Formats: sequence, C-alpha cells, structure tokens
Amino acid sequence: MRLLVVLPLFAAFASANLERRAQPGAVQPPPVELRPLTWGDVNFISTTDSHGWLAGHPRVSDFSADFGDFASFVKNMRKKAERMRKDLFVIDSGDLHDGNGLSDSTPLNGQVSDPIFSSMKYDMLTIGNHELYQNSVAESMHKNYAPKWGKRYLTSNVYIKDANTNKTTPIGHQYSVFHGRYGTKVLAYGFLFNFKSNGNMTVVEKVETTIAQPWFQKSLKVKSDVIVVVSHMSLRYGEAVSIVNAIRKVQPTKPLFLFGGHLHIRDFVRYDGRAAGIASGRFMETVGWMSASGIRNNNKNLTITRRYLNANLHTYKTHALAHPKQKFDTGRGKDITKKITKARKALNLTNILGYSPQDYYLSRYPMTDDRSLLKLVANEVLPAVVDPKKGKPGVVIINSGSQRFDVLKGPFTTDDTFVVSPFHNTFIYTTVKASLVKGIMEGLNTAPFQKRADKLYLENLRENKKGGDQKDGKKPGKNYPLTPGYVTKDDMGTDGDDWPHTPIADVDAPTYIASPLPAGVQPDDEVHIVWLSFFTNLIEPLLKKLDPNTNFAIADYRTDINSNTMWANFVTQKWAKQA
Ligand SMILES: *[C@@H]1O[C@H](CO)[C@@H](O)[C@H](O)[C@H]1NC(C)=O
Ligand SMILES: *[C@@H]1O[C@H](CO)[C@@H](O)[C@H](O)[C@H]1NC(C)=O
Ligand SMILES: *[C@@H]1O[C@H](CO)[C@@H](O)[C@H](O)[C@H]1NC(C)=O
Ligand SMILES: *[C@@H]1O[C@H](CO)[C@@H](O)[C@H](O)[C@H]1NC(C)=O
Repeated sequence: MRLLVVLPLFAAFASANLERRAQPGAVQPPPVELRPLTWGDVNFISTTDSHGWLAGHPRVSDFSADFGDFASFVKNMRKKAERMRKDLFVIDSGDLHDGNGLSDSTPLNGQVSDPIFSSMKYDMLTIGNHELYQNSVAESMHKNYAPKWGKRYLTSNVYIKDANTNKTTPIGHQYSVFHGRYGTKVLAYGFLFNFKSNGNMTVVEKVETTIAQPWFQKSLKVKSDVIVVVSHMSLRYGEAVSIVNAIRKVQPTKPLFLFGGHLHIRDFVRYDGRAAGIASGRFMETVGWMSASGIRNNNKNLTITRRYLNANLHTYKTHALAHPKQKFDTGRGKDITKKITKARKALNLTNILGYSPQDYYLSRYPMTDDRSLLKLVANEVLPAVVDPKKGKPGVVIINSGSQRFDVLKGPFTTDDTFVVSPFHNTFIYTTVKASLVKGIMEGLNTAPFQKRADKLYLENLRENKKGGDQKDGKKPGKNYPLTPGYVTKDDMGTDGDDWPHTPIADVDAPTYIASPLPAGVQPDDEVHIVWLSFFTNLIEPLLKKLDPNTNFAIADYRTDINSNTMWANFVTQKWAKQA
C-alpha cells in the first residue's frame, strides 16, 4: 500500500531531477510548443563562434543547456537519422576562444576547453580568427587540435610556419572527400575571411588567391553529391560570394552548402536554386539546422529548410526524441557535462566575487540609460578601479568593444570577468591640459575603425537585428508570454527562429568611452589621461596633432591591473555585499 502512494511522488522528483541536467543551477525554459523540423535527403546541424561557452548560459533559460547536452542532442538526432536512413552532418565554423573563463583563464587559451570541445563528434570544422591572434594558440591548434579531427578539420587558406625553416603548411586539410553513412559523397572546404591581424607564425591567404590556385581548381572537378564550405566569414559579402562564384564556374548545378560565422548573427542566404548558406549565431546560444531535398533527382530548385534553435534542453528533447519519455542523456553527454563542471571549479570560475544590484546590458539601452553597461563602466568602474591616484585628476578611456557581454543581477563570478571583458590590455597614461580631452575623444571616435573583428561585424549585426515581424512562427501556448530574444529576417523570411520572441533593441554606442573629468577642473589644469594599450597607436598621433609643440611622455599607468582584472577589482570593492 505504502509503495503505491510513495512511488508516483518519487517518480515526480526523479523526473524533475532529470530535467536539471546542464550545469548546476541552470534555469529551465517553459515547455513552449515547437514546430517539428523538416528532414531532407541531406541534413546539417551547425554551431559557430562558441568562444568558450561550453557551460552554456546557466542563468538564461533560453540558452541554459551545456555542451554535454548538445552532445546528447546530436547523438539522439543521429539515431533519428539512422531510423530514416538519411545523412546528417554536424559542423562548426570556428572561434573557440576569447569570451569565457573556461577557454581564457588557462595559461594557454583553450588548454582545458579545446579537449572538451573535441570530445564531440563533429563531421566538419574550420578555424576562426581568434585561433590566430597568438602564435602559441595557433601552434596548439596545429599540433593538438587539428590531428584529433584529421581530414575533418578544413583550412583551405590558413597556413602555419615552421619556426626553423619558415616553410608553410596548411594548419588542417585544404579539402576532403568522404561519404556520409547513407551514401552522400561530400567534397568539403574550410575558409577564413581575409584576416590580417594574425600572429606572424601563421599565414592567411586571401580567399581570392586560394580559389585561383591550381590545387583548388583541380579539386573542384572531384566527383561528389554535394559540396560543403565550412567558413568563418559573412555569408553575404566579399569572400563568400567569390567562393560561390568560383565553385559555380566549374560546378554550375552541384548542391552547395555554406556554413558561415564571425558575425555572431543568425542568417540564411539562398545563392541559387541549388545553393544556400546558414550562420548559427554565437556563444552556444544557437544551434543551426538546415536540410535539403531533391539532391538525387536533379531538381532545378532544391527544397531547403532552415531553423535557428535556442540551445536549451526543451529544444533539444523536443526535436531529438521520438516521444517525451525516451531517454535523452547519453554517456558522452553526461561525461562532457561533468568535465565542464569540474573544470569550472578547478579554475575557480564559479567563485562569487560580489553581487550585481541589477541587470546591465551591453547594447540594449543608450548610454544615457541606467541599464547601460557602458554607462556603468564609464561612470563607476573606471573611476573606482583606475582611479588616477598619481596626484592629478584624470580621465580613463577604453574602446567600448573591449566590453563584450551583459552583467545580470545577482552573483558576479570570476567567470563573469572573462565574459564581460576577456582581453588583457594594460593601462597607459600621459599628462595633458584638460582642454585637450575633448579633442582626444573626438579624434578617437572619428578614427578608422579598430576592432578585433572587422567593421562589417557591427553593420551586419544591426542590419540583421532590425529583423521583421514574427509572421509564421507558432505562438507559444497561452500560458507563456513572448519573451525578448532573437527575431531573425533572412532570405526565407521571418519564420526561421524556432522559439518565437519579441525583438531586443540594439543601440549605437560611441566606439571609445571615457570616465567623466572630475568637477571643478579648469581647461588649463594638467590632468592624466589613461587608456588601454590596445589603441596607443591611435593616441600618439592624436596628441601630436592636437599639440605639436609638446613631447608627451607615455608610460604604464599601473602594472597590477588590466582590462580583464579591473572587473574583479571593482566588484570586490563596490559590490561585495548582496544588495
Ligand atoms: C624567417 O622569417 C623571419 C622574418 O621574416 C626572418 O627574420 C628569418 O631569418 C627567417 N628564417 C629563415 C630560416 O629563413
Ligand atoms: C615574429 O615576431 C617575433 C616578435 O616580434 C620575432 O621575434 C620573430 O622573429 C617573428 N617571426 C617571424 C617568422 O617573422
Ligand atoms: C528557383 O529558385 C530561384 C532562385 O532561388 C528562384 O528565383 C526561382 O523562382 C525558383 N523557381 C522555381 C520554379 O521555384
Ligand atoms: C583557486 O582558488 C584557490 C583558493 O583561493 C587557490 O588555492 C587556487 O590556486 C586557485 N586556482 C586557480 C587555478 O586559480
């Protein structure tokens, strides 16, 4: 009798526990009703720009699944593909580092996160620009990462130099040919955009040069069912268009699929009846889905579908499982989840440094709004941390691009210091008349763009985020209000987002921002200007231009603090107590 009463209760608890996969404390989204995915002759799952976010976003229910859950999702999708006897390929477009403590808090970026990433079973991958800034990281990609994938790691235009001879070799493979499990013969390439800020031990060949090379032209004649280009670039402009045109000259009707990245956006491009491309966002928020039918019977127009999935357990289970009771977790998935939890602990990433009193957003609100992260940085963080103590009042200037993410209300951890401000630039200073400060800020904000990404990044982001109305997306059940999130408009319309959302605003901010000059400073007073080493090359000529007669002595301001550690310093000083 007793058992009969207790069992259902126990079962309820057990299943509630099962829902708590992902990282400890991860919040789960409401079970919104989702439209089934359309499978084709050939199917693709894609990720890009993971930037170390293998733990997912435990505090944002839309994206709270971790990389272990993703592995379980992929395994279950592969089982589904097997039942349908259809090929499914899983693809990553690069940028594994810079943006999260898991990848960036180790002596070598990716030392702990890369092995976790490569315990996933990807079919095709390529390299991102963030793997090439530092020679040591690029060398590790070549020595440790590329060999794990063999011919699945595709780098058609990226080479590494031998330290002794300067001889260049491709970091991965320039192209590969292989068969999917159900017979699809794939010819695959991997391209990086024409990136110029790489370390000097690597060479990025211009895409236009690579596609004119005899090896590339010859490879295009290899017989295949489909051509896949895994790329780290915009799908709409320049390099991608050159690649599509070059392939079409030799293979005018071959089914062609591009996977883009770098811009951190959701996007889909239809190049022609038998060619399309998808970009799958950033930071393990989005998992891209693309399918194509009509490949075998030479249809002039393939039927191609696409969907942008929010990376959470509800999404994964809904699309991967045949029925809700089916087992979702896999051995590999659970193992990856455990490894991430352990690594985050070992790296002290979950240490709570303090408590944010509210949400601060990087680009949802203008700098006049109290919810603006850049306003907080300019008015509170910089004055508190880089406080010009050297006997003079001063201003501290940073490039707003050094700040990369929102700060949410509640615990602020060591990981958050990497998430919000991953780069380690030091502070440099000189002494000027207060009257010069205005000219310096104006000069900086009209200088040629100097981002770690190219200028296209922001333009496309805005273009894309303008979005459109959610027309065809299924509305969530009546108990679930629409939440703010991605609203995407692409070449197929506005029904690409798997979860319907209301759009999030994305407002402009100045490229360079400064802490305010203390009150009472007169134009003729001497003040310190302090800035990040990242743009000393812009400050020096500006000073010369504004005051040609003075030789400004430039020096390190403080050596104990940089653009990453300033956050830990601020939070422990000002936010130590829970509000
Ligand atoms: C490799 O290139 C560097 C930079 O151009 C040069 O200084 C060095 O002498 C070269 N080494 C060899 C072995 O050619
Ligand atoms: C790369 O730059 C470093 C530091 O400036 C220099 O020592 C080295 O010789 C350079 N190597 C090559 C191959 O150019
Ligand atoms: C085939 O696709 C092209 C390009 O996407 C489009 O312009 C054309 O209208 C389509 N034709 C048919 C018959 O669907
Ligand atoms: C983590 O914190 C502990 C205790 O403060 C310290 O002993 C350890 O060295 C830290 N580990 C890392 C990787 O920073």
